[in-house]
Amino acid sequence: MEERKKRIFSGIQPSGELTLGSYMGAIRNWVQLQHEYDCLFCIVDEHAITVRQEPAQLRKRSVAQLAQYIACGLDPEKNIMFIQSHVPQHAELAWILGCYTQFGELSRMTQFKAKSQQHADNITAGLFTYPVLMAADILLYQADLVPVGADQKQHVELTRDIAVRFNGVYSDTFVLPEPFIPKLGARIMSLDDPSSKMSKSVPDGCINLMDQPEVIMKKFKRAVTDCETAVKFDQANKPGISNLLTIYCAATGKTMDEAEAEFAGQGYGVFKPAVGEAVVELFRPIREEADRIMKDKAYLEGVYKTGAQRAQYLANKTLSKVQRKIGFVAR
Ligand code: TYM
Repeated sequence: MEERKKRIFSGIQPSGELTLGSYMGAIRNWVQLQHEYDCLFCIVDEHAITVRQEPAQLRKRSVAQLAQYIACGLDPEKNIMFIQSHVPQHAELAWILGCYTQFGELSRMTQFKAKSQQHADNITAGLFTYPVLMAADILLYQADLVPVGADQKQHVELTRDIAVRFNGVYSDTFVLPEPFIPKLGARIMSLDDPSSKMSKSVPDGCINLMDQPEVIMKKFKRAVTDCETAVKFDQANKPGISNLLTIYCAATGKTMDEAEAEFAGQGYGVFKPAVGEAVVELFRPIREEADRIMKDKAYLEGVYKTGAQRAQYLANKTLSKVQRKIGFVAR
């Protein structure tokens, strides 16, 4: 294989607003890693349709998400930024990889179990095979590293298993990817219920990147805590406060010790709005920049079209290798 910089692939579904969770678990790290790696950052609209979407909303959100990626500090000159459905090789490779994935493996995916409960009236084959499409996303680009939140670790591990299996049958074809899970912010919890993950599909207790400051402050002031008063990190006994401390440290760059010392002897009435302020200040420049970029439709179109072309070039290399190895006749 030719000498190349290590490669990153990651993506977010445009099935809702970008959230504080997706920012802390994924985007924040992408911004750091873009300087060291060749990166592809995708808007995974094909994943989004595994549950029903309103078409006009999906179209609007996909482009808005690109504007927000750029506003977060991802450089479209440096990185390949594109919309998944513009690169048909994802779906093609997903079909092939599906034939190297076991029904039992997919049945064990915790996200499938959770989502099929959430959408009990619409458990589609797409929802079930979704991890195969994710494996195709990653393997198509021979990604070395996949920066994601903790909830996606199982899917990256399955991707590795599929790659190992395929390589075992047909000789080395795919690079084996590693998940990159941040130490801080890998699993941001809901402000309403610190026992469940903050999720765009459950708007209560969820902070969105584009929320106005007063909305953010209101949500933090209402955040569920406990009946004590000490601002201390204690995951088992104080999950609400621990989550807020994590958010505070990730937003300000302070250590946990520094944060605890800062609020020692002060009650939650001081602490909760301080976390809100930190997030407001973190998101303010991003929101303003995203609003500005959103007005320039021609620029955004240029970015996603160029991104798709560059992605297709790389994707085709892997796909044709795979097709040849499994015995498809050359076109
Ligand atoms: P998605 O769209 O649900 O979430 C996007 C990214 O944000 C992370 N994340 C969180 N991190 C910490 N705390 C939270 N509360 C939180 N909520 C979300 C997720 O872990 C993820 O990194 N299947 C993926 C999208 C995808 C993908 C890929 C990712 C499709 N193909 C290939 C990497 C590589 C998903 O549904 O993420």
